[in-house]
Amino acid sequence: MARGILTAALAVAVSLAVHVALRCPIHPLGPSPPRPAAAAARFPPNNLLQNMEKLGEGKLVAPEDVYVDGGGEVYTATRDGWVRRMRANGSWEEWGFVGGTGLLGVAPLADGAMLVCDADKGLLKVEDNGRVTLLASAVEGSTIRLGSCKFAPLLQTIHFFHRSRLADSFPGHLMLFADAAIEASDDTIYFSDASTRFNFDNWFLDFLEYRFTGRLLKYDPRTGKASVVLDNLGFANGVALPPDESFVVVCETMLCLRVWLKGEKTGQAEIFVDNLPGNPDNIRLGSDGHFWIALLQLRSSPWFDMITRWSLTRRVIASFPALAKRTKAMVKGAMVAQVSENGKIVRVLGDSEGKVINVVTSVTEFHGDLFFGSLATNFIGKLSLGKIPQPQKQGAVSS
Ligand SMILES: *[C@@H]1O[C@H](CO)[C@@H](O)[C@H](O)[C@H]1NC(C)=O
Repeated sequence: MARGILTAALAVAVSLAVHVALRCPIHPLGPSPPRPAAAAARFPPNNLLQNMEKLGEGKLVAPEDVYVDGGGEVYTATRDGWVRRMRANGSWEEWGFVGGTGLLGVAPLADGAMLVCDADKGLLKVEDNGRVTLLASAVEGSTIRLGSCKFAPLLQTIHFFHRSRLADSFPGHLMLFADAAIEASDDTIYFSDASTRFNFDNWFLDFLEYRFTGRLLKYDPRTGKASVVLDNLGFANGVALPPDESFVVVCETMLCLRVWLKGEKTGQAEIFVDNLPGNPDNIRLGSDGHFWIALLQLRSSPWFDMITRWSLTRRVIASFPALAKRTKAMVKGAMVAQVSENGKIVRVLGDSEGKVINVVTSVTEFHGDLFFGSLATNFIGKLSLGKIPQPQKQGAVSS
């Protein structure tokens, strides 16, 4: 009897090991993503976001990013391939069609067109007349996004030894996971390439693997070429510029970095803000010179916390798509942070239980109102800052 159980247990263990060895799409080489514990203690959860109103409810499929122009018109890109716009009178319209399911960041261009980041195609320009132009889909020395290849495990092994040569032999896979973008006043476009290993559908695998293959890129419209500003980023996403454009900020899984564009530190990278009570996603400049950052609550569930602790558990979860999907679905709650121009957290607003909104991926301020995009909603959130307590009245603002 005991022997039978032992044999069965052994059989399960062996088949699990074989399954993970053969099917695991991730290759964690470094440490696990750390838990943002210290920051969470400094900024206890609150539910100030629960007072938001819902714009376009039911019309918007997972509006990841949100941008508001000078006239108060709201732009977002949705999972059905549309860039949608809310007019000042509150009516929504289909503004520009790109197609696909991977539209993420939206940002204005000085000429009146919009920059749209497509996780599958690259950096796009979308004009009012419907014309879509692919600005950048590759970068010099780009690597293949192996996670999307059919022979990923084999290629990963080869890739490990022949990084550059492999890139040359599969030009069809030389694409960028464009996530967020911003145009500087000299027409240079800074944008993020979230991962060179996984596509948008598999962003969660990138988190489990935690291998820092994202990049901050810049596109020069004069040469039509994209080049690397900063690499080895863990899922590069939000990109922003301060009013004087003296640096460019890029956010990754645990923190935001800045690269100086002016002054004696030009070209140098340093931490802009870390120890955040969540995982930063999009970042935008507000009208008062402060930035607003959406913070994913990836470590909100104890189960999630446990499985991300060891590389073996991360590999096991990643090897079973259904398990990975269920684990990803445990990401609940929402949080955003206001951060000063020198990287100090001013205040944090949240919906800790996810009662009204979950997975806020973008926050932007316009005329004292905050607008929220999310991958887990069918609306854009809107909240007047006048309706919530001022930062000095909140308990935990000292840093
Ligand atoms: C809102 O404004 C747009 C553009 O000015 C117009 O086309 C639309 O009919 C208006 N909708 C309503 C409900 O007034």
